[in-house]
Amino acid sequence: MAFDHRKYVAFKPVAKTNRRWPDRVITRAPNWCAVDLRDGNQALVKPMGVAQKQRLFELLVKLGFKEIEIGFPAASQPDFDFCRKLIEENRIPADVHIQVLTQARPELIERTYEALEGAQRAIVHVYNSTSTVQREQVFGLDREGIRDIAVNGARIVKAHAAKRPATEWTFQYSPESFTGTELDFAAEVLDAVSDVWRPDQGQRVIYNLPATVEMATPNVFADQIEWICDHIKYRDHLSISVHTHNDRGCGVAAAELAVMAGADRVEGTLMGNGERTGNMDLVTMAMNLYSQGVDPRLNLSGMAEITDVVEACTEIATHPRHPYAGELVFTAFSGSHQDAIRKCLALREDNDPWHVAYLPIDPRDLGRRYEEVVRINSQSGKGGVAYVLERDYNISLPRWLQIEFSKVVQREAETGGGEIDSRTIHRLFEERYLKVNPSWALKGYDLHRDADGVHAKVTFGLDEEPYHLEGRGLGAVEALAAAIEDTFKVSLAVEAYDEFALGEGTNANALACIRILIDGQHFSAAALAEDTTSGTLQALLSAVAQQVDANPVTAATSRADGISSH
Ligand code: KIV
Ligand code: ZN
Repeated sequence: MAFDHRKYVAFKPVAKTNRRWPDRVITRAPNWCAVDLRDGNQALVKPMGVAQKQRLFELLVKLGFKEIEIGFPAASQPDFDFCRKLIEENRIPADVHIQVLTQARPELIERTYEALEGAQRAIVHVYNSTSTVQREQVFGLDREGIRDIAVNGARIVKAHAAKRPATEWTFQYSPESFTGTELDFAAEVLDAVSDVWRPDQGQRVIYNLPATVEMATPNVFADQIEWICDHIKYRDHLSISVHTHNDRGCGVAAAELAVMAGADRVEGTLMGNGERTGNMDLVTMAMNLYSQGVDPRLNLSGMAEITDVVEACTEIATHPRHPYAGELVFTAFSGSHQDAIRKCLALREDNDPWHVAYLPIDPRDLGRRYEEVVRINSQSGKGGVAYVLERDYNISLPRWLQIEFSKVVQREAETGGGEIDSRTIHRLFEERYLKVNPSWALKGYDLHRDADGVHAKVTFGLDEEPYHLEGRGLGAVEALAAAIEDTFKVSLAVEAYDEFALGEGTNANALACIRILIDGQHFSAAALAEDTTSGTLQALLSAVAQQVDANPVTAATSRADGISSH
């Protein structure tokens, strides 16, 4: 496809000199309005039925939404029925406003009020499209014609409300396709609607400015919002709302900058379901605020329940990398990330501010667990592997063994090509280091310490064919190493050994790890035992057994010649 530079026209920046929003910081959450049951629902392959709507409505109430757009009752019978059900069954909490959408057409407005009959309080949301594209190509109307649709709609909304004084009414108007509307014209329409509704005289009015299609960078949207706030009548008596869509992938960013630019209220959907690329994602924006120390005034701590209900009602799976909600978002595969997370978590005290590398928020705040943080694949390093063994099996490895074992795990991951779970890591560790060859199994030892050091007598092997070694050294390991050198006529150096007492939940009390150099070859082994000395002696025998396995002919001869058996 050849790029045709005439096909797409760049969005013109807003002519504005007194931008204030870039210096602002959001310190208070906006008023939220969830439009899952209307805008989100309209975008579903299979729109929700009454039962699904009720389930999602109850979730939204539970999360703390005080304004919930429940449908477009004049356009959809299930939406009408759902609205009636909520009202007739008294299912709307006293502090929650339901909101319903209608086009600015007399018969639709009338039907909308029928749906709302008997409500304690409600927001009637009326809209018509105002952009140049819609004016010229869809409606074939000039500015005046479009403004008249809005004004007539506003009059009819007001008249119906006046007939039902028992309900506490809020009026909302959206100049649909606002981002494609000349700003002076948008302000003209809003002012004309205000002249009907008179927010200055006590009528609660919301002007909802939609990025029906996201057409420009979020800073342009912020400019548009600040411009409108500066130029419309009765600003102080109005609630300015924004309703962004995500066509350029910046729906959340645009809403955030809009709040910096003066918006009081934000409409969106959980997880961002909505037409085309979706609506502004309420979960992401609320959690962005939360992660900056701003109370979102929503309770999103049960994220698993949120994703379950949204998935069941929308039949759309949550992307595993969805901000804050995805299955993989508190998971680090990269070794250096795992290492850094582990170090930060180890240093952190419970009431410290959250400064953990690679984790913008504490997973526990969303009902997730640290255990989910580290998962292993071929990109993982020693830190992650060691973390998993420690976390799930209480096994701490010395650094030298972490490095060595992570290569074993990496090889396995490269062969399998995917993630390695913690059981496999443990199995690999057992097979590679802990396995005891019965011919080299420690049976017993006797240590005698005198002025020259330790005299060790060690018995190992099969019950029916036990072997005995005897040697001297500064400690038990050196004494057994000397006995092996002597017996097998090999040169043996212990390069590293470490012993650990084990935590609860393990059968053994101690883990010993050893690395030896024997006739120029390195061998490492580990052993679980009741006490550290048994562990270290067994680890040494297992390491020697590896050398024997690797060099069967020499070893068999030496063993036959050197080891006494009875
Ligand atoms: O995206 C939009 O413009 C809308 C309006 C009806 C508010 O959903
Ligand atoms: Zn929308």
